[in-house]
Amino acid sequence: MKVLVINGPNLNMLGIREPDIYGAQNFASLESFIKSSAAELGVDVTLFQSNHEGEIVDVIQSAYGVFDGIVINPAAYTHTSVAILDALKAVGIPTAEVHLSDINSREEFRRFSYISLAAKTTICGLGFEGYRKALEFLCENI
Ligand code: DQA
Repeated sequence: MKVLVINGPNLNMLGIREPDIYGAQNFASLESFIKSSAAELGVDVTLFQSNHEGEIVDVIQSAYGVFDGIVINPAAYTHTSVAILDALKAVGIPTAEVHLSDINSREEFRRFSYISLAAKTTICGLGFEGYRKALEFLCENI
């Protein structure tokens, strides 16, 4: 199974940005964690990170016919991006949404996710472990 893992804006700043919320480990550590989780599950994983909404739309479109599943942490675009929602609906690839923090127990504006309208599951508040759970979900549901 081929899975595209997409990380959105500011996740490349992990380890520096708000460590009390997002933890002390950096983005390279997250990528290593995702790669080793995928290897354990026998998933062929491709990693992509961007701070730009249009680039995320482009990579979702280019996943059509190539990937069996998508794991996405859209970061701040979770709460604003109809374009990313529409791209996920357009390609119809089974998608698991992940958030490091528990978006439901933070500011009110983080409680709504456009991406949840297309995702088959939303995993939040588990830190890095959420990405492993998302890969497991796709393995069990594709
Ligand atoms: C996040 C939660 C979002 O609200 C926030 O904008 C992020 C990261 C998370 O992983 O907890 O950048 O998606």
